[in-house]
Amino acid sequence: MSADFNNCVVVVTGAASGIGRQLALQAADRGAFVIAADINAVPLEETKQLGARKGLQMEVHVLDVADKKAVYEFAELIIPQLKGRKLILINNAGVGLFSGNFHHTNQDDFEWLMNINLWGVIRMTKAFYPYFMERNEGHIVNLSSVFGLGGFANQTAYCTAKFGVRGFTEALRMELMGTNIYTTTVHPGGIKTNIMRAAKPKGTFLTEEMHAKATADFDKIAMTTPERAAHLILEAVRRKKLRLVIGKDGRVIDMMTRLFPVAYTRIFKKRMDKAFKVSV
Ligand SMILES: NC(=O)c1ccc[n+]([C@@H]2O[C@H](COP(=O)([O-])OP(=O)(O)OC[C@H]3O[C@@H](n4cnc5c(N)ncnc54)[C@H](O)[C@@H]3O)[C@@H](O)[C@H]2O)c1
Repeated sequence: MSADFNNCVVVVTGAASGIGRQLALQAADRGAFVIAADINAVPLEETKQLGARKGLQMEVHVLDVADKKAVYEFAELIIPQLKGRKLILINNAGVGLFSGNFHHTNQDDFEWLMNINLWGVIRMTKAFYPYFMERNEGHIVNLSSVFGLGGFANQTAYCTAKFGVRGFTEALRMELMGTNIYTTTVHPGGIKTNIMRAAKPKGTFLTEEMHAKATADFDKIAMTTPERAAHLILEAVRRKKLRLVIGKDGRVIDMMTRLFPVAYTRIFKKRMDKAFKVSV
């Protein structure tokens, strides 16, 4: 175990699965005191047990980041426990929406996703911000996506939220210049997690069969393991890296959206249709 996160408290949301679970385990392994939160109690407890088997301790809390009152109560409970230690807040919780194109996406489903993927990030940051400001120290890590670098068909809600996370984080970064409070925006490409499996069909157009097919396609094309993604994120925190793109697929999308800021939509359309075979 390296101990480079000694004397740090890592608060990570969405810690019951995928990248968040690995962040909690690896941060604990690197010496941090980990407070792991998730909406799903049973798999969250599994994260804790996985850590315990390796001799790692963490505190777990059931938390819905879409619930404003719950988020502020959570911060009120946690802040006194921090006792002046450096806080690394990792806003990782997120959901996918399998609803087809914008025409077939219900506004309620769109708002449901925004409330978790964008507002969850903003309200967690706001709730813990007084601690960061008072200490003039810490690190805020926000999970955007490659879908926060480019807009993709059938992902209108997800892209809107992830572009929002990017904008929010970059605006904070400018405000925080000259302080000891750092921000990292993370833009992962495909990571082999439950995100697509958990994104059940919504609205009236898509079927369970289409979802199963899209999940199988995603499992095939997602290039990076959650273990690797979490390792890269913690390394970015250690090195105070401000922007992290994960995976070869992520780097290709990053480059294409910068080289061809308009034409990338046409270039990627064919590849997306082929990869997901959902063109509605
Ligand atoms: N997997 C990918 O390919 C990929 C790519 C780019 C970005 N991301 C982002 O990475 C982050 C982690 O996703 P993942 O791939 O590990 O997915 P995942 O589905 O494996 O894990 C997401 C976790 O968030 C939790 N969660 C969902 N809604 C919540 C809520 N309201 N409150 C608290 N917790 C909630 C889930 O219970 C789950 O444990 C997300 O923000 C996602 O958008 C993932």
